Amino acid sequence: MTACFKEIKALRMQVQAWRRQGESIAFVPTMGNLHAGHLRLVQAAKVRADRVVVSIFVNPTQFGAGEDLASYPRTEQEDVHKLQTQAVDAVFMPSVQEMYPDFGAALTTVSVKQVSENYCGAVRPGHFEGVATVVTKLFNIVQADFAFFGEKDFQQLAVIRTMVVDLNMPVEIVAVPTEREPDGLAMSSRNTYLTTLQRRQAPQLYQALCAAKNAILDARLSYDVIERQFQQTLKQQGFAPDYFSICRRSDLQAATSADSELVILVAARLGTTRLIDNIQVDCVH
Ligand code: PAF
Repeated sequence: MTACFKEIKALRMQVQAWRRQGESIAFVPTMGNLHAGHLRLVQAAKVRADRVVVSIFVNPTQFGAGEDLASYPRTEQEDVHKLQTQAVDAVFMPSVQEMYPDFGAALTTVSVKQVSENYCGAVRPGHFEGVATVVTKLFNIVQADFAFFGEKDFQQLAVIRTMVVDLNMPVEIVAVPTEREPDGLAMSSRNTYLTTLQRRQAPQLYQALCAAKNAILDARLSYDVIERQFQQTLKQQGFAPDYFSICRRSDLQAATSADSELVILVAARLGTTRLIDNIQVDCVH
């Protein structure tokens, strides 16, 4: 049976009861509007622990002014139904008031330097501080042994991993590969914003990543040239790229030809919809 909790206190009592029985806890934080990518996180969580807690909370502090907080798709009933069919043990759906009683006046935030600064961090100021702060709060509320994050938000994953190490948080972060549509588009709640025409164009983002990966493995062009070339390709295809960057996987700094574990990060707008994706590249020198 799936139990739904709106209050921190009630969820904590449930988690403590499981702990007293010696059970392990896995946690999947989400903002709802669940798709197959989220369900993959849930399935990975179920394999790893005795109990699975999923949170659904559209966190206002990670949206900037003019971003899509008001229009972000909210589908709570369908989400709970999906989680019931996955036999999730608990769904935590707090109100904004429950999470931020002094909203606007909260004095404590979590800021992860360096890894937050470039890419989405540069384009969306304050975004990763909002994410790191709410994830810290959720970790403190749920007190799970494991927490599951999708690789699609690769920079977010790096921010959370850094935060957990730097602040000695007693939770193991588990990364789950990106779930894709049959045409390669990474699954995202924001895909629902795309028009029919944009939806047809959108898989070109992943195609650009695959082609750039081949160009890296081919080793004939410098990383600078590859980045510029694919930004140009995306522009010609009608995207407005924020960045197309070849990075070191460990710390997301710009990669050099000496690095072997790479990730290419991309963010681009199609109309008003901002899409992000990435691909990992392993170079053998
Ligand atoms: O990835 C998301 O859905 C959100 O950023 C998260 C981790 C649930 C924090 O609000």
